[in-house]
Amino acid sequence: MKQDRKYFLKQLGSGLLVAGLPAVAFAKNDQVKMIDADDFNAEGAATDEKFWKQIAKKYYHLDGDYINLENGFYGIQPKPVLQAFQKNVVKANAQAARFARKDYPGIAAAAKKELAAFLGVSDEEIIITRNATEALNIAIQGYPFKQGDEVIIHQLDYFSMIETFRMLEKRGEIHVKEFEMPLLPKSEDEIVELYRKLITDKTRVILLTHVSNINGLIVPVAKIAAMAKERGVDVMTDSAHALGQIKFSVKELNSHFIGMNLHKWIGNPVGAGILYVKKERIKEMNALFGDMSAAETSISKLAHFGTTPFAVIMTIPTSLAFHQQLGVERISARLHYLKSIWVNELMQHPGVEVVTPAAENLSCGIASFRLKNKTSAEVADYLFKEHNIFTVSRTLGKDGCVRVTPSVYNSLDDIKKFIAAVKMLSAL
Ligand SMILES: Cc1ncc(COP(=O)(O)O)c(C=O)c1O
Repeated sequence: MKQDRKYFLKQLGSGLLVAGLPAVAFAKNDQVKMIDADDFNAEGAATDEKFWKQIAKKYYHLDGDYINLENGFYGIQPKPVLQAFQKNVVKANAQAARFARKDYPGIAAAAKKELAAFLGVSDEEIIITRNATEALNIAIQGYPFKQGDEVIIHQLDYFSMIETFRMLEKRGEIHVKEFEMPLLPKSEDEIVELYRKLITDKTRVILLTHVSNINGLIVPVAKIAAMAKERGVDVMTDSAHALGQIKFSVKELNSHFIGMNLHKWIGNPVGAGILYVKKERIKEMNALFGDMSAAETSISKLAHFGTTPFAVIMTIPTSLAFHQQLGVERISARLHYLKSIWVNELMQHPGVEVVTPAAENLSCGIASFRLKNKTSAEVADYLFKEHNIFTVSRTLGKDGCVRVTPSVYNSLDDIKKFIAAVKMLSAL
């Protein structure tokens, strides 16, 4: 029985999954053997340093020579995931074309099914892409815009999606309307009202960056989408930073087009993204990569990719398994806690400007700040050179900002060192 508990992921009723979705049963396989369910039995409260330290020590291989507060680029693979990935690389390499032609299609289809179950959608509504940028490009460039259609974006959206819409505008296909999103909105309703006022008869699509990569702002996707729907407007949702970091249900987002990735907060190796398109919307989409063989109503028509990264896709079930074991509720609570510690302290500090709202429904683990007397690049450089604390400066207006992104393997100590370092710099 002990073995079973170790080798199978228990279908716990809570804390495992994206909101309200059933837990996914994972096949007994070598890849999940290193995940010991007993390690995850404790409540694992956000403030329980002992629990999080033990998870970090046992499941993450960290180069302990610096404090990594730049986990927004991509996440470190937990050890069981890295081990599965390494095995998968070796297997695909050793067995070469025989593997790719005979075994891989079934393995990839099974991984896709598990991913769809994790997201609570049909596997006929998703495709696995290389990343979120590719996913959203397929959605944006495949959307049946008519000349003169208007798209709404803002300065906190991800630059690659802005670029794609601007490219379509340059080709004369659409008009892009960019507005200034407040950095510190007071409520979800304030954001919904902003969009309501911006919609015109020409508006066809709103780009919604679920969690901003610049300041971590969470926008109320479902509420905006419901309001937009009443006006006949679609939303395209960029959930690259939301999937795995905050609790949400794909279906309840009300969004018919969603791009995500698995290498930020799910812990999969770099190179897998997801495009979700609601079943009844597939027919009207144009394919970015030519495919005349798939049915017009089949999501496969959007996924003519050529050779894909076998091992990355094969590892998806293991990364989902680990992520489920930790649970999105525990993860998001921990990240929010670590963020709140530094935000609450530094926002009181003269010379520091925090540019992320504090409210739990408007922010997650990512938050940003700037110092009144230094450029953001100078701040990030100083933190790294003088204190071995790695953050990143981001473009935001003329002053920029420094983005701080803890992960589950960061400790309260890391955050305290970061706070002390910023205070020291602001006094210089
Ligand atoms: C909000 C947001 N959208 C999209 C992306 C792009 O993700 P990917 O690297 O998977 O294309 C990022 C990456 O940082 C992001 O922060």
